Amino acid sequence: MGASISDKLLAWYDRHARDLPWRLPPGAPRPDDPDFPYRVWLSEIMLQQTTVAAAKPYFARFIATWPSIAALAEADEAAVMAAWAGLGYYSRARNLLRCAREVAARGGFPRSEAELRRLPGLGPYTAAAIAAIAFGARAVVVDANVERVVARLFAITVPLPAARPQIRAAAETITPAGRAGDFAQAMMDLGSQVCTPRAPRCPLCPLVEACAARAAGDPEALPQRAPKRAVPERRGTAFWIARANPAVAGGAEVWLVTRPPRGMLGGMRALPDDGWSARADGTGRAPIAGPRRALGAVRHGFTHARLTLAVEALETSADPPGEGAWWPVGTIEEAGLASLFLKAARLARAAGA
Ligand code: ADE
Repeated sequence: MGASISDKLLAWYDRHARDLPWRLPPGAPRPDDPDFPYRVWLSEIMLQQTTVAAAKPYFARFIATWPSIAALAEADEAAVMAAWAGLGYYSRARNLLRCAREVAARGGFPRSEAELRRLPGLGPYTAAAIAAIAFGARAVVVDANVERVVARLFAITVPLPAARPQIRAAAETITPAGRAGDFAQAMMDLGSQVCTPRAPRCPLCPLVEACAARAAGDPEALPQRAPKRAVPERRGTAFWIARANPAVAGGAEVWLVTRPPRGMLGGMRALPDDGWSARADGTGRAPIAGPRRALGAVRHGFTHARLTLAVEALETSADPPGEGAWWPVGTIEEAGLASLFLKAARLARAAGA
C-alpha cells in the first residue's frame, strides 16, 4: 500500500515549502501567541486580493505600523485605508478594521471555522484557512490554486463555477486530520509552483502518479470554465484642480476629496470626478467652472465594469465646493490615493499639469 496523497504532499512540502513572512516552517509547532493568528488573518485577507509577491511589502508595512490586533483595532480608518491603497477592493480594508476591533474587544480570534466565519470580511475560504493555519483545525481550504489541483487530480470536467461543490467534496476526501495548516499551504504551494494554470510541471509533482488528468493526457485543459459574461464599459472624468503655492513640495497643490463611505472605492482618498459608477457613465460635469484642459485618460478594471477615466486640469485659487483638502503636488504619491486616481495623478503630472 503506497503513501496517501496527503502523506506525499506533506513530504514534498517539508522540502519545498515557500518561506513567507507570515508562515511557520513546515512541521513547526504553532506558537501560543496571539500575534500568530493576527499575522495569519492579515496575510489571508491580503492574499484574497493580490499575489504573494505583491502582498509582501503591504504585510511588512502593516506589521511595522500595527504589530498586534490591539494596535490595529485602535488605528484610524483613514490611515488603514491609505496603507491599503493599491491593493484595491477597499471594502476589504474597512472590514479589516471592523474585524480587528471586534476581535480585540472579544480578547482574541475565535478558533473554530464556524465562529471565524461570523467575523467581518471572512468568507468560507478565509475562515477555513485561518482555522487550519492559525489553529490547526481540520478544515477544507479551497482557493483558486487548490481548485485547480483538485480538478486535475480527480479529473473533474464540469466547468467552474458549477464544479465547486464536487471539487470541495473531493478536497474533503484528501484532507488529513493532522498538520492542517501545512496541508492547506502545501496545496496552495503545489498549485502556484507546480500545478500551474499553463504548462504544469508534472514531472516535479509529488502527486503525479495519482493524477487522473495526467493519466488522461491533458492536465492543462482543467479546470474548465464557463464563458465569462462581458463586463460593461464605463466612462468618467477626474479633475486635477490645482493652485500655485511656492511654499509646498512641487510648487503647487491639488484638491483631493474622500469618497463617500458606500459605493465604489468608498472611503478612499481620490481626485474629484463626475460621478461615474459601475452602473452609469459620468455626467462630464466639473465641480468648478472655468477652462478645462484635457490631459488624456487612464483605464481601470473593476470586478463589475471597466472604466475609461478622462483626466482634465482646471486652475483655481478658491476652494472648490464641498469637503476636500489641498495636497502638495510633490508628495502626491504619499496621499494614499486609490490606484485608479494614482494613475490619473501620474498622468496629470507627466502632462505637466
Ligand atoms: N494564498 C493564500 N493564502 C496563502 C498562504 N498562506 N500561503 C501561500 N499562498 C497563499
